[in-house]
Amino acid sequence: MSSTIYQATCSAPVNIAVIKYWGKRDTSLILPTNDSLSVTLDQDHLRSVTTARADASFDGQDRLWLNGEEEVIKPDGRLRRCIDEMKKLRQAKEAKDASLPKLSEWAVRVCSENNFPTAAGLASSASGFAALIASLAALYELQPEVSTSELSRIARQGSGSACRSLFGGYVAWQGGEQASGQDSLAVEVAPQSHWPDLQALICVVSDAKKGTPSTAGMQRTVQTSPLLQHRIKDVVPQRMKDISAAIQNKDFDTFANITMADSNNFHACCLDTAPPIFYMNDVSRAIVQLTEELNRASEAEGKGKLAAYTYDAGPNAVLYAPKANMPTILQTIRHYFPNADFDDTFDLLGKGANASHRGAQ
Ligand code: DP6
Repeated sequence: MSSTIYQATCSAPVNIAVIKYWGKRDTSLILPTNDSLSVTLDQDHLRSVTTARADASFDGQDRLWLNGEEEVIKPDGRLRRCIDEMKKLRQAKEAKDASLPKLSEWAVRVCSENNFPTAAGLASSASGFAALIASLAALYELQPEVSTSELSRIARQGSGSACRSLFGGYVAWQGGEQASGQDSLAVEVAPQSHWPDLQALICVVSDAKKGTPSTAGMQRTVQTSPLLQHRIKDVVPQRMKDISAAIQNKDFDTFANITMADSNNFHACCLDTAPPIFYMNDVSRAIVQLTEELNRASEAEGKGKLAAYTYDAGPNAVLYAPKANMPTILQTIRHYFPNADFDDTFDLLGKGANASHRGAQ
């Protein structure tokens, strides 16, 4: 009997999209209606850490614990699909090398923790599924034969936005055209080291659980919003090109303009949904106005834009800005949202987080 322990631990950070993914053309394979692009945040602040272990002695069932609570792995669910796809890749490796232990035939036990409160209203599915795929890839020793983009194709089937968290830095999810989803995967646009000066500030406006989960909300938008069709056809393709170029050129003004426009367009599509979906609240809108004011003042002085806001499926603001601007931004936010409200309604997380390190490691 071998006493080798087959276990791997990996972490993956949260990513925040600047060109939003909103809508699926295939809900089962998780194929999006448009390309998207995100920045992966610093691992120190918001990340999921996952340990995966395989053992011949485990009984037949795969099991998974999330923040200490066991999750049911439903037979036709996303977790099942991800684990099965990873086992298939391991099986292919074992088929080529008969000396390898048959880990693909053993059950796995997975344990995942977020280093941020799940209740904080911040997307945890992206980092969670990315860490799951990364830890299984390490357990099954799939890389480098299987590329990170290939792994992202599987993470995508856990949660669309998860495919982007496998990479650090600036990441595009190419929606693809094939019905099989073979060409729907994440690619690196630029590593974090290319533009390390960009930072992210997350303003937790509310830590309440969101009203309409993204998975349900986006399909309601697909079914009812004419504006979404315009977004898919006429808006996103050009923005993907322009923001990729802005990142290559480290052109913050263009990056900021596109980021804010895309957040607003996404929330307009939510409003165009029947019945409408409201994610932003009065505090979110006040932060939009404040950022617009700061940018106007900065541009009046002949300087560029100070910051860019973006909002996901909830009221919390993420502000992207060059490092040098962060003190002014923080000071202004503290001024307009004084300490009295700070703890309850306006908490700052990830103060000046570096806009990424590596994806999963
Ligand atoms: C607004 O990836 O959570 O954050 O694929 O159904 O799991 P599913 O949805 P999810 O949606 C994220 C939506 C978003 C925009 C984005 O991250 O691009």
